[in-house]
Amino acid sequence: MTQETWTAVDKYLNDVYTPADSALDAALRASDAAGLPPINVAPTQGKLLHLLARTINARRILEIGTLGGYSTIWLARALPQDGKLISLEADAKHAEVARNNIANAGLDDKVEVRLGKALETLPTLQAENAGPFDFVFIDADKQSNVEYFDWAVRLSHPGSLIVVDNVVRNGGVVDAASNDPSVQGTRRFHAAMANDSRVAASALQTVGAKGYDGLMIALVIRN
Ligand code: SAH
Ligand code: DHB
Ligand code: MG
Repeated sequence: MTQETWTAVDKYLNDVYTPADSALDAALRASDAAGLPPINVAPTQGKLLHLLARTINARRILEIGTLGGYSTIWLARALPQDGKLISLEADAKHAEVARNNIANAGLDDKVEVRLGKALETLPTLQAENAGPFDFVFIDADKQSNVEYFDWAVRLSHPGSLIVVDNVVRNGGVVDAASNDPSVQGTRRFHAAMANDSRVAASALQTVGAKGYDGLMIALVIRN
């Protein structure tokens, strides 16, 4: 099986499960026009995040890593009328593009994009009592995933879901000698998960138009 097959199958599935959507399609076009890298989640993954958040009736969602707000829009659409999503983004240009895309999707009343390095903005969220969050999506720099996951557990409650993107890294995750910091960060993350009794978790490999990677899903048991 090759990338060509994965891309063709992704397109086939997208046609069924994620048909054209003006706000999401516009968000990707605007992100591309602004020069943002095309590293948003795939459509079927965005919809999976949306379905998971809806399944648990999430009212408060935290996202770490906004980019152009593509996954943000999928997640915010799962919220009830009075729901709230806070998304953390370190890059000012990404945050600006995201805010425009979110407003264009009619979601600016529910979504706040916070500019700053997540390891600096997460303590602020705690100081503000912004939590607890019902759903957390971690998708920023992979080097800090251990710290982000720890914050996610602390800012959530038993029954919350935490999803971490990019936990396989084209298979690089099995290479203990890798000098890719994102691979090393991901390996540290999985090692920490092996000993984290606060959550029940699993991880899946994924393929598609965006290549070969994976998702981790954790249910918070205690925090
Ligand atoms: N969740 C998005 C993709 C995020 S890409 C989607 O699926 O649509 C990763 C994002 O994390 C980038 O925008 C990058 O600027 C941001 N990022 C990287 N390091 C960060 C940090 N330390 N704090 C917050 N955001 C960071
Ligand atoms: C990268 C980051 C992501 O969040 C992603 O989904 C794919 C790639 C990256 O930094 O390369
Ligand atoms: Mg990602």
